[in-house]
Amino acid sequence: MAASNDGLPVRTGFLGWLNERLPVDSFMRDQLTGYYAPKNFNFWYFFGVLSIVALVIQLFSGIFLTMFYKVGEESSFDSVEYIMREVKYGWLIRYVHSTGASAFFIVVYLHMFRAFLYGSYKAPRELLWLFGMLIYLALMAEAFMGYVLPWGNMSFWGAQVIVNLFGTIPVIGPGLVEWIRGDYGIADATLNRFFSLHVVAVPLVLLLLVALHLVALRQNGSNNPDGVEIKARKGADGKPLDGIPFHPYYTVKDLVGVGLFLMLFTVVVFFVPTLGGLFLEAPNFEPANALSTPEHIAPVWYFTPFYAILRAVPDQQMGALLMAASVAFFVFLPWLDRSPVKSWRYRPLRWRIWLAIFTISFLVLGYLGLKPAEGTYVLLARIFTALYFAFFILMPFYTRGEPTDRVPDRVTFHHD
Ligand code: HEM
Repeated sequence: MAASNDGLPVRTGFLGWLNERLPVDSFMRDQLTGYYAPKNFNFWYFFGVLSIVALVIQLFSGIFLTMFYKVGEESSFDSVEYIMREVKYGWLIRYVHSTGASAFFIVVYLHMFRAFLYGSYKAPRELLWLFGMLIYLALMAEAFMGYVLPWGNMSFWGAQVIVNLFGTIPVIGPGLVEWIRGDYGIADATLNRFFSLHVVAVPLVLLLLVALHLVALRQNGSNNPDGVEIKARKGADGKPLDGIPFHPYYTVKDLVGVGLFLMLFTVVVFFVPTLGGLFLEAPNFEPANALSTPEHIAPVWYFTPFYAILRAVPDQQMGALLMAASVAFFVFLPWLDRSPVKSWRYRPLRWRIWLAIFTISFLVLGYLGLKPAEGTYVLLARIFTALYFAFFILMPFYTRGEPTDRVPDRVTFHHD
């Protein structure tokens, strides 16, 4: 194929017509075939594209659910039962959406953890990280409001607990709670506004934030498991020596990750959609009842680490403050971590131990959040809450002047 002087193929016929009107070829060149990504990506780099896949799954299954779901105190629960029993493949659409919510959080948590491993939040990618954090907050709001929609008993009581947390804010708290609910209790007005926000507003915000996240990613390019900036070493052709064209190399590689993900996803959807109450809780198969509180009110697993922190403190106001802080600390990570080196591969044992402490605390708190707040569980929640916060608060001290290994000039495939 002949090439024009800007390196693009000379097109005739329909493709020529199209390219004059839409920059298809130049987009391919600038964003895919001509975009060089580090050649040492490992499986941790699947989770970005998998987050996109999860988002698309949620949008599609959500559109079909909305065709049959009828919002309202009197109709929500029954319409979900109708979807499960009467609508052709309704059960499939619902289980795809409920499993999709958990899958979304699994891939996003792994995606975030990769940033901890390889220091991807550090300069020059702080803004990329901040857009990620905004996505995470929007995702939490989206999942919380979606959970209320089936109007099961856990929907109702979960909403009660979470919305009441805003009441702990001094002065404006009580008024704010009433404003959020649109009534004196969790009621029809609350359900209606959550539906509107869940189906329209938050998905739009999420899409916008994901677009900004990807633009910010392209500005400096991806980090990689060695934390080496590949743009620093370019060949005579001006291309990074340690880069390979995103297309076809990573498009093909990502397809493998997507295939594996979809296999696991369908196994859950078809064989264990509630995952023993982790993905869909038993009390939510009973209609909302303001006169009967579920035995243990617990959110879905992806919120339980924060829920455990909330309950670790006897004072509700303090608990709510700590819970907010436990999420907020993530935002400041790029500035709390003072190490000159990005990847854990070249960071000292000290950092690895702290990272392990944080990871274990997060997982244990996640488990404790599913359990009733009593006896040893409370004691453990307090210990791990303290460790969780120590990881962030002490970070500027244990990372400053860290003794690091020498980072190689070029990326490696088998580091020691
Ligand atoms: C809808 C949710 C999200 C989508 C669709 C998404 C998408 C992506 C994609 C496609 C990449 C490039 C591929 C990769 O590095 O895996 C990426 C990179 C990145 N994302 Fe996300 N992301 C999401 C949420 C988040 C969140 C919640 C955070 C953190 C708070 C985050 C932080 C990052 C960082 C730091 C990178 C650069 C990683 C590196 O280059 O090593 N993302 N994201």
